[in-house]
Amino acid sequence: MSEPIILGIESSCDDTSAAVLKGQKILSNKIATQEVHTKYGGVVPELASRAHQQNIIPVVDLAIKEAGINKSDLSAIAITRGPGLLGSLLVGTSFVKGMSMGLNIPILEVDHLQAHILAHFIDRGQDMPSFPFLCLTVSGGHTQIVKVKDYFDMEIIGKTIDDAAGEAFDKTAKILGLPYPGGPFIDKLSKIGNEDAFTFPMPRIQGINYSFSGIKTSFLYFVRDELKKDENFIEKNRNDLAASMQKLIIDILIGKLKRASRETGIKQIALAGGVSANSGLRKAIMQGEELYGWKSYIPEFQFTTDNAAMIAISGYYKYIKKEFLGIDFTPYARALHKS
Ligand code: KG4
Ligand code: ZN
Repeated sequence: MSEPIILGIESSCDDTSAAVLKGQKILSNKIATQEVHTKYGGVVPELASRAHQQNIIPVVDLAIKEAGINKSDLSAIAITRGPGLLGSLLVGTSFVKGMSMGLNIPILEVDHLQAHILAHFIDRGQDMPSFPFLCLTVSGGHTQIVKVKDYFDMEIIGKTIDDAAGEAFDKTAKILGLPYPGGPFIDKLSKIGNEDAFTFPMPRIQGINYSFSGIKTSFLYFVRDELKKDENFIEKNRNDLAASMQKLIIDILIGKLKRASRETGIKQIALAGGVSANSGLRKAIMQGEELYGWKSYIPEFQFTTDNAAMIAISGYYKYIKKEFLGIDFTPYARALHKS
């Protein structure tokens, strides 16, 4: 059998993305990021749906052209079915239903969170994890330690009980007067700040679960009190505050991951999701090789935040199992797994 050519489409949040894969190899990966949300300090669902509607045809068109194929060459279309914003998901899923009928090719459904993990299997000539491995999935909406037993056999063994790690970055940024999404700005400032300048208490959460809402509150109160003494406190200390909070978030993430590795005896450790773009976290995961005997896997930058290449690779593994979806499906907004 010749390698299938799969179009992946992602529209679950505020990025409209389309990618083409031939087998496990990437032919194109295009992303239209919606700038419209920046001034609101967060994603506005109604505006996201409208922007997807405007972007989806040009982005798909571009991905197909850049891949150097015709749409008649496609074997199947993979689509994010959930979780995400319902209006945004409806744009992608409705588009895919039309395209699948027009081209007479099957639809492959993909879970957004699984796709972040399966991005490690896009063939870029890199080492790939073998099963079982642990994956720390950290995004704007989720923070999980997942035991990956097979492509679609995943068990969440730890998760956040409140905010996600991405939210902790974004809220820290907001307090420091930085734009949304703030994670990349905190990352940048941390490189020039002193990470030991300020210390905040570590959350005490049982087992291998996480909590990030407490550190946000203690940071907020600390900054508020300092501003009473010196109204220029943030301006004078922005880099150090960013670096200290980034260090704290990374220490929390790595601490529970170490414990999960110890308890399961699994030393293959992967990183996935938007926050996996963070340079400090990437470094800490790689240092685990020397410090804890891990074999660590970090994704290429283009596969960290939401992208359709990860949807296409997930679709590829469904395609070889011939797991196709009928036209009468609906998207789901909330995470599927018991988490
Ligand atoms: O996976 P993703 O693109 O979207 C969701 O599914 O949520 O993740 C977005 C999150 C945002 O919270 C953003 O601030 C964070 O990833 N992020 C970062 C960095 N780049 C993106 N956080 C820290 N450092 C970064 N370099
Ligand atoms: Zn995501």
